[in-house]
Amino acid sequence: MNQQLNFPFGVKLNGLGSSVPSQVVTNQDLEKIIDTNSDWIESRTGIKKRHICDSSLGEDSLSLSLEASLKALGDTPASEIDLIIVATSTPDYFYPSTACRLQSKLGATKAFAFDLSAACTGFVYALVTASQFIQLGTCSKVLVVGVDIHSKILDWTDRTTCILFGDGAGAALLERTSADKNELLSHKLHSDGHGGEDLSAKCVIGGYPLGKVEKSTESVHMNGRKIYQFAVKTIPESVSESANLAGLSVDQIDYLICHQANQRILDSVAEKMDWPREKCLSNIAKYGNTSAASIPLAWSEFANSIPSGSIISIAGFGAGLTWGSLIWKWNK
Ligand code: COA
Repeated sequence: MNQQLNFPFGVKLNGLGSSVPSQVVTNQDLEKIIDTNSDWIESRTGIKKRHICDSSLGEDSLSLSLEASLKALGDTPASEIDLIIVATSTPDYFYPSTACRLQSKLGATKAFAFDLSAACTGFVYALVTASQFIQLGTCSKVLVVGVDIHSKILDWTDRTTCILFGDGAGAALLERTSADKNELLSHKLHSDGHGGEDLSAKCVIGGYPLGKVEKSTESVHMNGRKIYQFAVKTIPESVSESANLAGLSVDQIDYLICHQANQRILDSVAEKMDWPREKCLSNIAKYGNTSAASIPLAWSEFANSIPSGSIISIAGFGAGLTWGSLIWKWNK
């Protein structure tokens, strides 16, 4: 039974774009600043390099979001956008939101705009949220962005976390279509706040105690093994669940675009699903874990090689804990 049959409108993808900072940091570069080695990083994670923002070049969440958004918009005037949702956990400001700042830069004058926080699952949450606005008829064009600059909240002396992450942004332009041309076939999102401590970056703001301002955030804390186990359990379950809601079997899924956190997680998902490894698309070697940006970065990169009509599963997991997936009928 297709979960989406009762909406008056359908949603379709009309553009994808991505952006990464210019500075490339290889595993060998990391060997020079922390006690690690390139082979360990590559064999345990699949990561060979990542892009890291250089603030002296003006690179930040806004600049990456803007470049990715302009690519996703293509010829569509920004003045036609009804809503901008930015999924991020590492905004440049507590407020205004990255989405409002992006709205201003784009000149998307009629849009309302907000940020959404679901860590590495943020882009999946944002795609589903945007689609609901479109399918109910409230909006006809929605820009969805995933952006994270994890480099600014990493402890660069902690080799168990700092080697994993990279910076980047990705964007998708969603548009209203008729219900019979709907591309979002199903979705299911999950949260479990009990696991929050396993992956966190705490805000520490002045005033606790009164008047003391020491630093504005603490760096990333992670129980790597628990997060690994969480991912390899929940992603196969989630993909099966959303396939079922679309009235499909997992064998009918042509490609999985999963959050890119670790190549071993992707390989384990493929094994559990009894799929060939190649079905789980991967570009983690080049970018590392770019958090909310990883799915649109991968989607943009592989868009040209995915045949039209393919059934894609898009799945995310991350801090919260949060996870979820959706099924998309790819129409080039
Ligand atoms: N370089 C070299 N050695 C390292 C290292 C590094 N960067 N990081 C850890 N090690 C060492 C450890 O100190 C340990 O040494 P010991 O056996 O002498 O104590 C050894 O490598 C094994 O460490 P362990 O933590 O057990 O490695 P692991 O196989 O679990 O891999 C992760 C660690 C982080 C790669 C893995 O747990 C993981 O990917 N987890 C999921 C993380 C994730 O995806 N987070 C984001 C989710 S959105």
